[in-house]
Amino acid sequence: MKKIERTAALRAAITAVRREGGQVGLVPTMGFLHDGHVRLIRQAADECDFVVVSVFVNPLQFGPTEDYETYPRDIEGDMMKAAAAGADVVFCPDVQDMYPDGPPLTSVRVAGISEPLCGAGRPGHFDGVATVVTKLFGLCEPDRAYFGMKDAQQLALVSRLARDLSFRVQVVPCATVREPDGLALSSRNKYLSEQERKTAPAIYAALLEAAELVVHGERDPRIVSIELRQRFAREQCLDIEYAEVRDAGTIAALDHLSGDVLLAVAARVGRTRLIDNVVLHIDGEKVEMEAGEIQGEP
Ligand code: PAJ
Repeated sequence: MKKIERTAALRAAITAVRREGGQVGLVPTMGFLHDGHVRLIRQAADECDFVVVSVFVNPLQFGPTEDYETYPRDIEGDMMKAAAAGADVVFCPDVQDMYPDGPPLTSVRVAGISEPLCGAGRPGHFDGVATVVTKLFGLCEPDRAYFGMKDAQQLALVSRLARDLSFRVQVVPCATVREPDGLALSSRNKYLSEQERKTAPAIYAALLEAAELVVHGERDPRIVSIELRQRFAREQCLDIEYAEVRDAGTIAALDHLSGDVLLAVAARVGRTRLIDNVVLHIDGEKVEMEAGEIQGEP
């Protein structure tokens, strides 16, 4: 596996693969890789001839009071994990190489999808995500790009931007990987104190309880979101930012639950902001739940 730090070198590597007719897979990350990222890389390695894992903590998507400076970084560990999972290249440019002219004057905004939920609490965040993902698509020209369902709003946003801007890429959703107690893996989990770590699985438990209502026939989104919020009211040291029920593809609010429905939560556990969700596929009486996979289980 190769480490590539320069955009020009990445383009040259991709051109060589393409010349041989190889299919390129891209896994965009901000590094400090865990088993959720590894699952994306493994799937990419199964489905593509050449897998690029980008590791770039993108300053554009952090607010002024957020954790850009302190975001965990471990490029040596990331290289080992990416290689073991089947990556061909770790692309880890510095900010100067990605944004040589300073902050870009061009910004990509996916109207509608970028505004509610995490967009409301983190103004500009999704414009930063959309802009860097557009750049990565431009640099790698991937056949497939892999995104985790853990960040359901980001997945919806990237899928829409790829269609709107006519990228040839297929955006591939990957299941959320969870700890045995249900907590979704996240690079930010390392900020949790021992006590907070014990509280954090309550987020997933609340999502499952609300999802059960839908499985048992509830189709009014207001009732489901009230249930979600009430469940959180019982938890001390868990400060809810939002708990909402939305269309999983458009992130639009719903009057009635049908089709692909997202139950999404953002909460602060101590000073750490965590997000999680489950997706329900509702077809009349039938409800299928996509809640992710427990780490290490097949
Ligand atoms: P990052 O938080 O590093 O996540 C990289 C990818 O890993 C995303 O697609 C995310 O959804 C996925 N991921 C994170 N935790 C996961 C889990 N527990 N199970 C499955 N997948 C998981 O998301 C970003 O970086 C950035 O916004 C990025 C897209 C790289 C743009 O800067």
